[in-house]
Amino acid sequence: MQCTITSASIPGADVLTRKPGLAKVARLFPPELVRSLVRLRRDLHRHPELSFQEHRTAARLERALAAVRPASLERVAGTGLVARIRGRSHSVPAVAIRGDIDALPIQEQTGLPFSSRIPGVMHACGHDVHATWAVGAAALLSARPPAGDVVVLLQPAEETGKGAQAMIEAGVLDGVAAIFGGHVDRRFAVGQVVAQPGSLAAASDTFEIEIAGAGAHGARPHEGKDPIVAAAALIAALQTIVSRRLHPATPAVVTVGSVHAGSAPNVIPDSARLSGTLRALEGETREKLHHALRQIAGDIARAYGVEAKVAIELGPPPLINHETAVHWARQAVEEILGKSALVPLGSPNLAGEDFAWYLERIPGCFLRIGAREEGTEPIPAHSPQFYAAEEAIWVGAAVLAQAARVASASLAARGGGPEADPEQRQARRRRQK
Ligand code: NI
Repeated sequence: MQCTITSASIPGADVLTRKPGLAKVARLFPPELVRSLVRLRRDLHRHPELSFQEHRTAARLERALAAVRPASLERVAGTGLVARIRGRSHSVPAVAIRGDIDALPIQEQTGLPFSSRIPGVMHACGHDVHATWAVGAAALLSARPPAGDVVVLLQPAEETGKGAQAMIEAGVLDGVAAIFGGHVDRRFAVGQVVAQPGSLAAASDTFEIEIAGAGAHGARPHEGKDPIVAAAALIAALQTIVSRRLHPATPAVVTVGSVHAGSAPNVIPDSARLSGTLRALEGETREKLHHALRQIAGDIARAYGVEAKVAIELGPPPLINHETAVHWARQAVEEILGKSALVPLGSPNLAGEDFAWYLERIPGCFLRIGAREEGTEPIPAHSPQFYAAEEAIWVGAAVLAQAARVASASLAARGGGPEADPEQRQARRRRQK
C-alpha cells in the first residue's frame, strides 16, 4: 500500500487549513510551531529506540520541551521526562498529560521519506506522534496558561508495560488530580476522537507453564511420562476457558504464543514449556482467567501423570476511563473539533495499555485519536506498514491541551481557584468575613 506522506519537505502551516473540519485546530498553531512539531515527529520516527533505551529520544524531547519554557523540566525513570507548565494559580491541583515515547523491534516497511534508520526497530505504534503531540500541548498551554499547573509526562517503555509504573514510582502523580492521554488509531479518520467511559484496553497478563515429565526412548513411551502429549492436551483444553467458562458476551483472550519441547524425533523429552497471554476487560474476568488456567493446567497434568508449574506475570490492569474525566475530554473535543468528531469505539480493544496504571491511582481519560488520511487503509498498529497521519499531531496536541484546560478550570471552580464561579467566590468571602 502506498502511504500519502511522500515528500521529505516540511509542510507549511497551510497543511491544516486545507483540511475541512480542522480549521479551528489550525488557528491554534503558529506556523513556526507547525514546522517544529513536524520536524520533531520525523526526527523521532527516523531514530526509534526500544523500551528504556530511549536515550536519544529523551535528549531530543528534552530540548523540544525546554523550548516551550516550562517552570521545571526533569528526567525521571531513566529515559522519562516531566515538564511543569505554570498555571495562573498555585491553589489549583495540577492536571497531567502523558505521551509515550518507545518503539518496537520491527523492520519498517512504510516507504515513508523519514523511515527508520535503525535496522529492526521502528515506531510501529505511533509513539513518535504521541511524544510530539505532548510537546505540542505543552507549547499551547505555555502560550496561554490554564487555571492550574499542567505536568507533561513523556513516558518510556509503554510497550513492555513497565514505563508507567516507573514514572509513578518516581512520584510524577504527586499533587496531580487528573490525567489525560491518547493513542493514534487508523481505524478512525483524522479529526475523529473516541472519548468514552468504561474499559478502553484490556488487562494484559503473561503466563508460562512448565510441564515436567520423564524422558524416554521414542520407541518405549511406557518407560517415560510424555510432556509433549500433555502439553498438546493442555493447549486444547485452554481453548475452553473463553468458550465454555465465560459468559458468551464477555470479551477475553487466552493465547498460547510459544511452545518449546524436545530436540530429536526419536526422543521423548523431560519437559515442555508453554507461554502465552491473557486478556480481559474487567477485573472479575481477569481473576476467572487466572483461576481456570491454574486449575486446568493442574488437572490435565494429573490426568497425564506429569507436573505443571504455572507462573502468571501481572501486566497492566484493564484501562477504565473515569466518568468525570471523560466528560472533560468530551467537552474539549466538542470545543476544538465539534460534536460530530466524537465517535464510539465500536468493538472492544483487547490490547493492553499501561496508561491503566495511572488510572488506578487518579481519575483520567484515555482517548483514541483518528490517524487515517482520507482514501487510505486502516493498517493495524504493530504492523511494519503502520504510520500515523501527520495531522494527528495537531489534533492530539489541541485536544489534550484543551482537556487539561477544561479539567483545570473545573477543579478551580470546585476548589476556589481563579476560575471559581461567582457564587462560590461570594460564599468564600462570606466565610472569610
Ligand atoms: Ni502504543
